[in-house]
Amino acid sequence: MALDGCLLLCPCLAPAGDSTCLLPTLCLLLPPSWAPCEPSLELTAWGWHFPPSLADLLGTNRSILFFGHRGFLGFRSLYLDEYRDRLFIGGKDVLYSLRLDRANADPKEIYWPPLPGQTEECFRKGKDPGTDCANYIRVLHPYNRTHLLACGTGAFHPVCAFVYVGHRGEVGQHHRGVSVEPGRGRCPHEPSGAFASTLIGGELYTGLTADFLGHDPGIFRSMGTRSALRTEVDQRLLNDPKFVAAHMIPDNDDGDNDKAYFFFTEKVVEADSKEHTIVSRVMRVCVNDAGGQRVLVNKWSTFNKARLVCSVPGPDGIDTYFDELEDVFLLRMKDGKSPEIYALFSTTSHVFQGSAVCVYRMADIREVFNGPFAHRESPHHQWGAYEGRVPYPRPGVCPSKTTNQPRRQYSTTKDFPDEVLHFTRAHPLMYKPVYPRHRRPLLVKTDLPHRLRQLVVDRVEAEDGQHDVFFLGTDAGSVLKVVVLQQTGAYTPEDIVLEELQVFKVPVPITQMEISVKRQVLYVGSSLGVAQVQLHQCETYGTACAECCLARDPYCSWDGSACTRYQPSGKHRYRRHGTRHNNPAHQCLDQNLTGERLGSIEEKVLYGAENNSTFLECVPRSPQASVQWFVQRPPDEQRDEVKTDDRILQTEQGLLFRRLHRHDAGIYYCKTLEHGFTQTMAKTALEVIASEQLAHTFPRGRGDEPPPLPCPKPQAPKAWFKDIMHLISSHNLRRVEEYCTRFWCGSRPYHRKSKLGQDKHALAGVDTGKKGRMAKPHGERSRVPRQAVAT
Ligand SMILES: *[C@@H]1O[C@H](CO)[C@@H](O)[C@H](O)[C@H]1NC(C)=O
Ligand SMILES: *[C@@H]1O[C@H](CO)[C@@H](O)[C@H](O)[C@H]1NC(C)=O
Ligand SMILES: *[C@@H]1O[C@H](CO)[C@@H](O)[C@H](O)[C@H]1NC(C)=O
Ligand SMILES: *[C@@H]1O[C@H](CO)[C@@H](O)[C@H](O)[C@H]1NC(C)=O
Ligand SMILES: *[C@@H]1O[C@H](CO)[C@@H](O)[C@H](O)[C@H]1NC(C)=O
Repeated sequence: MALDGCLLLCPCLAPAGDSTCLLPTLCLLLPPSWAPCEPSLELTAWGWHFPPSLADLLGTNRSILFFGHRGFLGFRSLYLDEYRDRLFIGGKDVLYSLRLDRANADPKEIYWPPLPGQTEECFRKGKDPGTDCANYIRVLHPYNRTHLLACGTGAFHPVCAFVYVGHRGEVGQHHRGVSVEPGRGRCPHEPSGAFASTLIGGELYTGLTADFLGHDPGIFRSMGTRSALRTEVDQRLLNDPKFVAAHMIPDNDDGDNDKAYFFFTEKVVEADSKEHTIVSRVMRVCVNDAGGQRVLVNKWSTFNKARLVCSVPGPDGIDTYFDELEDVFLLRMKDGKSPEIYALFSTTSHVFQGSAVCVYRMADIREVFNGPFAHRESPHHQWGAYEGRVPYPRPGVCPSKTTNQPRRQYSTTKDFPDEVLHFTRAHPLMYKPVYPRHRRPLLVKTDLPHRLRQLVVDRVEAEDGQHDVFFLGTDAGSVLKVVVLQQTGAYTPEDIVLEELQVFKVPVPITQMEISVKRQVLYVGSSLGVAQVQLHQCETYGTACAECCLARDPYCSWDGSACTRYQPSGKHRYRRHGTRHNNPAHQCLDQNLTGERLGSIEEKVLYGAENNSTFLECVPRSPQASVQWFVQRPPDEQRDEVKTDDRILQTEQGLLFRRLHRHDAGIYYCKTLEHGFTQTMAKTALEVIASEQLAHTFPRGRGDEPPPLPCPKPQAPKAWFKDIMHLISSHNLRRVEEYCTRFWCGSRPYHRKSKLGQDKHALAGVDTGKKGRMAKPHGERSRVPRQAVAT
């Protein structure tokens, strides 16, 4: 594919949505015939790298995409049914059931448009017929052994239905005559607003805005046999909330103490400080809440909420807060009572963009709810801990055996004294916030080019113990796979980005992710479609034990001959794993590490012009690795270490020759040394083109046809970019131009001097920007993440 001119390059080079298109300036340097769009260059927080070639992508079996049958899925909800081996997907006017147990997903479809007349009414009320006036399925829960509960927006007229799925998930067959119920309070009106729901004992708990105009936010309980319940309309309870998640978590073995927890963000009613205009909350109610008898009739009588804090202490004592809750993942333990609660946050600051994952323990959450209530005399007073007498039963406690007293039984919240309900209503907020484990995030990511939206955590059994692997869905169609290592003795955990999976080729936000540990698969949803992605692909880490170890992917280990999925109960004798110790030499002692592994390393040929600068690239996989350069000058067999001086500089990115001599020609080996393990990273044959030969190629006058130069094939454009960056950082813009002119053999000398001069600052800016991006906060290692794109 050939592209004409430079302007076309930028859409390929800069990811959409990146407002600072970095490359117009560099485009000036590139000859018109250069066509880097295939494979496309992708900008990530870890620098520049390339996705595998198209052939590689088709070869990987890593993910399967489902876009529905109607051209546009409009994905909204997903229910992973491991029991029936089905994946249920809710989209725009459609519900699908996919098989999980076969290569052929055999999708079954139920077409479910809005009720007759609703589309027209939606349109008449001023909504967009193209995007709003459809039935987006937003609720999908297993209802009983034969039916799912599904609710849709119904063109701003929410509706629910029990969908027959049989014992094997065969939707559609008995469905046509299904009765449709009103969905108000059970499903949002709008297709995309924040929403959370959970089904507990046949009753649906939802957090949503329940009216057409979006003015009535609340937490609702409906269906089942009891009368519906909701929050009072009161800003102290919920103030412009954005619901993120809802879960039932039992307190103990007594089902009467079961509680429904909601996670959301809301506006601060009267901000004490201007710092936090939005805060994240955990809220809970008793599942057996029945409302009050005279007070709080059909309203929650056990409502309590507390702030969730996720912050990083700053050097100046000022914490950086991550106030905006994006997603919550519950890592359930065997007993079910104490799941670990992983929460993904982002900053609300416009100055500083970042995301963090904090983990909360149920014990800490319960302690806050058992602690003091927040109280203030009037809106003009400060918040403080309520120190007066708290009525009995303590507000927020569920009626159960433990609340019963010899002379007074509380079998339902309707038996609670009015005093208790009045207190509850006046004190919805707890005084103390909930802090994360270790009072700091497990993971902090700053200056990412994308925002992180979704979180799934897998606790992986590796040979050296358990590791938490995070899958983080971005708003740019990709998923980051990150392992967090708690080093013994280290204060801050270390995180390693193992892979970046570009699941969707367009930068669409990931809106839902579900993991199937049983199948070792992640289901990733965006409005476009749903992808099924393998959690690991160990064989991509290379064919040597050390490569497998250095990858530090806890899913993988060396089985004696290949990098494969680690099986905790496996029969393999050679289980070697480097996640925690990261010492491949030690881990792979019984393997052959003495020789260098050159088999997988391609020899590159680089042409440099005498007396001019040139650059040999070699970026070690980790910043801890030390790099050594060796040169072999044919016909000598011997390799000598390259002597650096002010002419030959060793930089972090490679070897820079400021002025190339003829005797510099030779084969250069870049070796890295990490934890005693030596690896050859690059082998480059450097050819030096003599001054005389160059003089012919770029004749000063007109006349003679120049003899052809030995013409290098444009290889990976990355090398060019790096070279250019290096030359730019030497602030010699003439060199940059010369370099570019010379490199593109066959192209005429470039006459862009004035343009280049103008762009001097822009070029310098590119450099700075890149350095900024390369900075690794919080000990992140700089392995270039691997990429995989859906096939
Ligand atoms: C893809 O996966 C299927 C089933 O797991 C397997 O049979 C097939 O060989 C794989 N293809 C490639 C190219 O790996
Ligand atoms: C499941 O619920 C639906 C809807 O209420 C009902 O029609 C069906 O009989 C129930 N099935 C079972 C097995 O209880
Ligand atoms: C070990 O590596 C050396 C050097 O590459 C090689 O010659 C030798 O055959 C290897 N031995 C084994 C057992 O693989
Ligand atoms: C290039 O360097 C050589 C010595 O390596 C010198 O003889 C020659 O004059 C130089 N040519 C130019 C154009 O500077
Ligand atoms: C670099 O190469 C250009 C073009 O061949 C030449 O004109 C220039 O003199 C060279 N620079 C040095 C420092 O020799």
